[in-house]
Amino acid sequence: MYRTHHCGALRSTHIDQTVTLSGWMATKRDFGGMTFIDLRDRYGITQLIFNMDTDRGLCEKARGLNREDVIKVTGKVRERSSKNPDRATGDVELVVTDLTILNRAKLPPFTIENDTDGGEDLRMKYRYLDIRRPVVQDQLRFRSKLTIEVRKYMDEQEFLEIETPVLIKSTPEGARDFVVPSRLNPGQFYALPQSPQTFKQILMVAGMDKYFQIVKCFRDEDLRADRQPEFTQIDCEMSFVNQEDILRTFEGLVVHLFEKMINVSLGEFPRMTYDEAMAKYGSDKPDLRFGMEINSFNDSAKGAGFSVFDSADLVAGIVLAGKADEYSNKNMKELTSWVQRPQIGAKGLVYVQWKNDDSIKSTIGKFYDDATLKTWIEAAGGQKGDILFILSGELDQTRKQIGELRLELGRRHDLIKPGDFKPLWVVDFPLLEWDEEMNRFHAMHHPFTAPSLNDIDKMASKDRSVLENIKADAYDLVINGSEIGGGSIRIFDRDLQSKNFELLGFTPEEAEAQFGFLMNAFEFGAPPHGGIAFGLDRLCAVMNGVSSIRDFIAFPKNNTGRDVMIDAPASIDDLQLKELNLNVVDLEKA
Ligand code: AMO
Repeated sequence: MYRTHHCGALRSTHIDQTVTLSGWMATKRDFGGMTFIDLRDRYGITQLIFNMDTDRGLCEKARGLNREDVIKVTGKVRERSSKNPDRATGDVELVVTDLTILNRAKLPPFTIENDTDGGEDLRMKYRYLDIRRPVVQDQLRFRSKLTIEVRKYMDEQEFLEIETPVLIKSTPEGARDFVVPSRLNPGQFYALPQSPQTFKQILMVAGMDKYFQIVKCFRDEDLRADRQPEFTQIDCEMSFVNQEDILRTFEGLVVHLFEKMINVSLGEFPRMTYDEAMAKYGSDKPDLRFGMEINSFNDSAKGAGFSVFDSADLVAGIVLAGKADEYSNKNMKELTSWVQRPQIGAKGLVYVQWKNDDSIKSTIGKFYDDATLKTWIEAAGGQKGDILFILSGELDQTRKQIGELRLELGRRHDLIKPGDFKPLWVVDFPLLEWDEEMNRFHAMHHPFTAPSLNDIDKMASKDRSVLENIKADAYDLVINGSEIGGGSIRIFDRDLQSKNFELLGFTPEEAEAQFGFLMNAFEFGAPPHGGIAFGLDRLCAVMNGVSSIRDFIAFPKNNTGRDVMIDAPASIDDLQLKELNLNVVDLEKA
C-alpha cells in the first residue's frame, strides 16, 4: 500500500496513529541529531521527522534524499512542539520509522515553490515540474471546479451536453483555420472548428432545444495574453428564444458561477449599446471599474483657428482628477510619447492643467483663453486640480486611442480597486463591418447573426452607409474590460441567410458550397434560435484578477504558438507527407 492518507490530511485527531504517506521531497533541513523533511503532494505538505538517536541508518538514508525524490514513509503522528498555523497539517508531524525511495529525481531546473526562480520558458519546458507548484495546482483546481459548476447549473436548466465533431469544414469566426489533410480524400482538408457554431444551430433544427458543450476551439490568429490558438468555450444554444431570454438565462449562469466560485454577488448586469460604449469608452468592451468617460469637444473646440482641431472628425477629452499639480513637463512628454507609440498611433497629446492656484497650463493656450478651457474641464465633469487630456482626428481611430489612454491612466493611477467586478452586456452591435483593405463587408459577429427586426429592410440597400448602420441582434458579455462571452439571435430562414451571404460578398455558389448544409436544414422546419459562447479560460482569469489566460491552461502554447514541452509544431517525414498526398515543395525553387 502506498498511502493511508494524503499529505494534506493529518490533523491532531490523528495523533498516535501509524500512517503511511507517499509524495515528493520538497525541502530538507538537518539539525544535529534530527532531519526535517517537507513531504508534498497535490493535497498539501506534511512535516516528517527522522531522529539520529532512534534510528541512525534511517536518518542517514533521509539525509541522502534529493529534492523531488519520490518516497513512501510510515511512522507515528505526533503533536508538533512549534505549530505552523499557515499550514492545514501544521499541528502535527510524522515520526518516521520506515522510508522507501520509490524513484529518484534529477535536480529540478527551478525551485518548485510558489515564488519560483524559473522564467516562463523554462517553466513551460518542464511544465510537469511547474504544475507541482501549489499556486499552479490551485489554478487547475479552480478550473476543474468551475467546469463542474457549469455542468451542474446547465443540467438543472435542462440543457443537454452534446459533443460536436472536431474534424469539420471551416466555420467563419473571423480567424484563420487550422487545417488537417485527409489521407483518404487526396488533396482535401478538414478544418478544426473555430467554434461549433453551425453544429449547434443544426442541433436546434434537430429539436434538441437547449444545448451546451464545454469545448475546445481552434483559431490561427495572433496571440495575446488573453488569446490562445486552442482555447475552451462554454458554448450554448437555445430554441424559441429572443435576446431577452438569452441574456436572462446566461446572466443567471454567470451570477451562479461568481457566487459559487469566489463568493461574489454580482447583482443585475447593466446594459449598454455598442454605440454608447464606443462614444463613452472608445471600446466595445469598456472597463467600468472606473469613470473617466470620453467627452466630445467638437462644438466648443472647432472654429478657433487651431487647424488640428478644425480638421478633426472628433475632438475628444478625458479628465484625470486631482493630478494637475503633480504632472510635470517631463510627465507630459513621456505620456505624449506613450500615445505616439505605433500600438496607439496618436499624432500628439493636448492637455489642459487647471492647477490648484487656479492657473491654467495648456498646450493650446494660444487658441483658447483660460476661462474657456475651465469650462471644458467643467463640462467633462472635472474641476480645479484636474487635467483634461485631448486627442483628435478621424472618428474611430481617435475613440480607440483615447480609450487606450483612459485604460493606461486608470492603471498608472490605481483607479481600479482590486477585487472589484463590473459586468456589462454590450448590445446592438452593427451587423456588418467594412474592411477597407479587402473593399468588402465582414460579419461583425459571424454570418449567422440575425439583423435587428427593425433593420431587416435596410439589407436591400446598395448604400454602404445604410448597410453600415444595420444593427444586429447580437450581444457580448464584458467583465472588467475583458470580452468574456459573445452571441446572437440567429437567422433561421434560408432566404435571409442567402441575403446575408450576398452582403458579405459570397456568390450564391460559394454560399451553397460552404454552407449549403445549414441553409438546406433551414428548409426543414428550423425553429427561431439563439445562443452565446463564453471563453472558459478568460472567465477563470477574470475571476482571479489575472490578465493571462495561460495560468489556467494546463499545457498552454507560448506567444509564437509553440508547445515548448513537446516541441510542437514539428516537421513530419517525407513518407507521412506522401501518404497525406502533400507534395514536398521546395519553396525556394517554386
Ligand atoms: P466569439 O468568437 O465571440 O463567439 O467567442 C466566444 C468567446 O470565446 C472567447 N475567445 C477566446 N478565448 C481565448 N483565446 C481565443 N483565441 C479566443 N477567441 C475567443 C472569448 C469570446 O467572447 N460562435 C460564437 C458564439 C455564438 O454566437 O454563440 C463565437 O465563437 O471570451
